[in-house]
Amino acid sequence: MDDELEILLTEEQIKNRINELAIEINKDYGNNDIVMICILKGAVYFACDLSRKIKNNVILEFMKITSYNGTESNKEPRIDYDLKTSIEGKDVLIVEDILDTGYTLDFLKKVLKLKNPNSVKICTLLEKNIERDFDFKPDYVGFKIDDYFVLGYGLDYNEIYRNKPDICYKKIKRL
Ligand code: IMP
Ligand code: MG
Repeated sequence: MDDELEILLTEEQIKNRINELAIEINKDYGNNDIVMICILKGAVYFACDLSRKIKNNVILEFMKITSYNGTESNKEPRIDYDLKTSIEGKDVLIVEDILDTGYTLDFLKKVLKLKNPNSVKICTLLEKNIERDFDFKPDYVGFKIDDYFVLGYGLDYNEIYRNKPDICYKKIKRL
């Protein structure tokens, strides 16, 4: 199975880009504390690495949103695990593995804004270069990639491949 995987981004490329993103984030947030919401499970590796490069105080929180079956988004995100803390008046940074259709992040941003945070920004490691149903712009993007189904560094296919250090792709036929 692994033989069919091609490396798209190496461990080294990911590490270097995370250092650059952290510098940008440090600059933008000044001395403010950041509530980093890591979106389970895919963004775990990214959030751990990114948060350790950020100099601000980072309060690490988790949410889980589900909308996928295999490689297809059903475009109806729902909260599987919610925040356990108030974000009122806080600067929130959503950390996501990949922006694909955009349904997950669009939904999440709207849900979080209802909780009256001071700000809500989005940092996604990957953004697919595709047409979206709505205009959606993340604040920080690690890499823009073509429309491959990608795996590794947190990204899975039916829960497999998350622990691969590189980001790989595999040509999986979409329905
Ligand atoms: P969106 O709602 O389509 O933007 O999907 C975002 C979520 O779908 C991400 O949090 C990922 O968990 C998952 N996802 C989307 N594309 C991929 C992919 O290429 N590989 C693995 N997971 C993906
Ligand atoms: Mg995810």
